[in-house]
Amino acid sequence: MKNLLQDRLLWFGGYVLSPTAAILTGLLMLSGCSISETTRRPPIEVWDDMDRQEKFKAQSPVGKDLYGVFEDKRSNRRPVEGTIARGHLALNEPSVTGLVNANTYLGQNPVPLDEAVLKLGHDKYQVYCTPCHDGMGSGKGIVNIREPNYKPANLMDDRIKAFSDGQIYYTITNGKGNMQPYHLQLSPRERWAVAYYVRALQRAHSGTLADVPEDKKGSIQ
Ligand code: HEC
Repeated sequence: MKNLLQDRLLWFGGYVLSPTAAILTGLLMLSGCSISETTRRPPIEVWDDMDRQEKFKAQSPVGKDLYGVFEDKRSNRRPVEGTIARGHLALNEPSVTGLVNANTYLGQNPVPLDEAVLKLGHDKYQVYCTPCHDGMGSGKGIVNIREPNYKPANLMDDRIKAFSDGQIYYTITNGKGNMQPYHLQLSPRERWAVAYYVRALQRAHSGTLADVPEDKKGSIQ
């Protein structure tokens, strides 16, 4: 009885286990599982897992039939107009710094002037400038009334009227003496808009009767 069992085990080991193990080892080597060697030949793939699959490339159609996710066959949408890629914001451009070079202010306001821009400038001036410079730019805002020793500049001074647009913008951006900078509160466009509004106040301040339209002259006392 004992011998019979022994015989069977030997038979099983010799004729079944060993050949199966040998075949499996061979298959494993064939399928490229050998880690001891490197080869330039592509591995034999039993299952290709996810080695190759169709994918979407930015802005391009996909696959043989050239289908995309969107109707125009693009795989993603275009960036919103005016989008600036990270690292491409030109913070040292004259329209952002207000300077042409280290010693020269930009002469002219670079933002095209229209009614909306002037309105924007008016609105931002009311919020950020009137507390000190007052609505007319005289420098007698509420802060000066409460604290007469704090003297905001009179924006109607000939000295400041002679500023270039860039110098006004630069002052708003970086502050001056006791005036704090406003580059965190106001975007470059908003600062240029405020500069336009300061110019409008100055122009109104230098106005004469000759500037008043004929039909309105009668209403001036
Ligand atoms: C908290 C008070 C305060 C606010 C708010 C303020 N300023 Fe001033 N501003 C001053 C003071 C004070 C000075 C004088 C600084 C100096 O010459 O030392 C000044 C000076 C100026 C000058 C003249 C700079 C020069 O070189 O002489 C301009 C132009 C000006 N301000 C514009 C503005 C504008 C535009 C705003 C709104 C965005 C504004 N300021 C908001 C306090 C203020």
